[in-house]
Amino acid sequence: MNTAANFDTQALREKDNIFIHPWDDLAVLGSYQRTIMTRGKGIYLTDSDGHEVIDGPGGMWCVNIGHGREEIAQAVAKQILSLGYFSPWAVGSAPSSILAERLAALAPGDLNHVFFTTCGSTAVDSALRFVFFYNNVLGRPEKKHIISRIGSYHGSTHLSATCSGKLLEKKNMDMMDGIIHHLPTPKPLLRPEGMTLEAFSDAKVKDLEDKILELGPDRVAAFIAEPILASGGVIVPPPGYHQRCLEICRRYDVLYISDEVVTAFGRLGHYFASESVFGIVPDIITMAKGLTSGYVPMGGMVISDRLIQDLRKNCEDARYFFNGFTYSGHPVCAAAALANLDVIEHEGLLAHVRSIGPYFAECLRSLEDLPVVAEVRAMGLMAGVECTLNSDEPDEDRDYAFALRVDRHCQELGLLVRPIYNMCVMSPPLVITRTQIDDLVRILRAGIELAMAEVLAAP
Ligand SMILES: Cc1ncc(COP(=O)(O)O)c(C=O)c1O
Repeated sequence: MNTAANFDTQALREKDNIFIHPWDDLAVLGSYQRTIMTRGKGIYLTDSDGHEVIDGPGGMWCVNIGHGREEIAQAVAKQILSLGYFSPWAVGSAPSSILAERLAALAPGDLNHVFFTTCGSTAVDSALRFVFFYNNVLGRPEKKHIISRIGSYHGSTHLSATCSGKLLEKKNMDMMDGIIHHLPTPKPLLRPEGMTLEAFSDAKVKDLEDKILELGPDRVAAFIAEPILASGGVIVPPPGYHQRCLEICRRYDVLYISDEVVTAFGRLGHYFASESVFGIVPDIITMAKGLTSGYVPMGGMVISDRLIQDLRKNCEDARYFFNGFTYSGHPVCAAAALANLDVIEHEGLLAHVRSIGPYFAECLRSLEDLPVVAEVRAMGLMAGVECTLNSDEPDEDRDYAFALRVDRHCQELGLLVRPIYNMCVMSPPLVITRTQIDDLVRILRAGIELAMAEVLAAP
């Protein structure tokens, strides 16, 4: 059998170099020496040399119920043996229909219509295509501009990548022209000295209103926002920001898409964070990741009754939404998602996150006594530890290199970090305990201290 057990680590690394990984540096393709993970259990991962680490990023913000769950394995096996696949164009399946109803019940307000995709990027892409379609059907084809934010991440299809606001990641990558606009990031750390959070919030909300007025409300279709900018470094916007942005959107008839690919399914202690944490009922919510806890790929969006009714009112004849995937509502993925929701429910993981989240934040904030830690931002079970070697003389390259040192030391000590630029983002499986949080923070502190010692010792 071609399993990991038949090859040693070096042989696996060589094979792995044939796989072009996401965000690979193609200039050095073939020379990566990646860790090869072979097993996972709870919050822990074990590599091909038997070294165990805490999974700090929770896979990629997605392994919410933890690794190695028998419940998912059983549900997936059972579904494959009863119905492994059939075309979603032609028929329905029990798991996808039950899942759709369950998600609609969990989603806030009148968000009652579920469209399934294959991942978060295709969820965002589908949401944007739906918005374009909606405005075409409503007879306003010029209402197509989308407002996003610098620092956001929305995916890797052409449309969702254009929407993303991580500017470094646009280099050498063509983007769509003209219709997607980025507001400054609502990152409180960047506010001028002396500016209150309230004044900063006013300024960021004004950015949105000004942009709508500049483009013309008749031309702006939607505002897309992650509740917390996740891979932008866990940026928690100032209090009231989302509610006030929604008010602005309502005032100018602009749709609000809440990108909950990271924040849904427990990361912030609720199935969806938009209403429960930030007090908004958007028009569309996109999701993926925690929907199946990463065991199998699945994404989706939930659309409001209002939008569907608007479409129905304006359709004298058929109006096909020509958007979908061979694997939309895949029965095996839907079965995994249902089993995942059952685990979240039966193990009380939402309540667990709500009760342990403040401890997680408090422990990580203790790292702010380290001179290199510029800020720790945390909410629920997601956190960003931003490292800046010298805030008087900012140097991004030096800070990114520092975070890589932290990563290397932490991995040796038993914690996977995988920094995003100069930010160590933590989103461990939601099953993490207090003692495990203590371990995670202890190792992160030791990793940062070792990296600092190394930098100080460098000539
Ligand atoms: C907020 C957000 N939206 C969309 C995506 C894209 O999801 P995927 O990688 O599943 O396509 C991501 C991925 O990290 C994300 O963080």
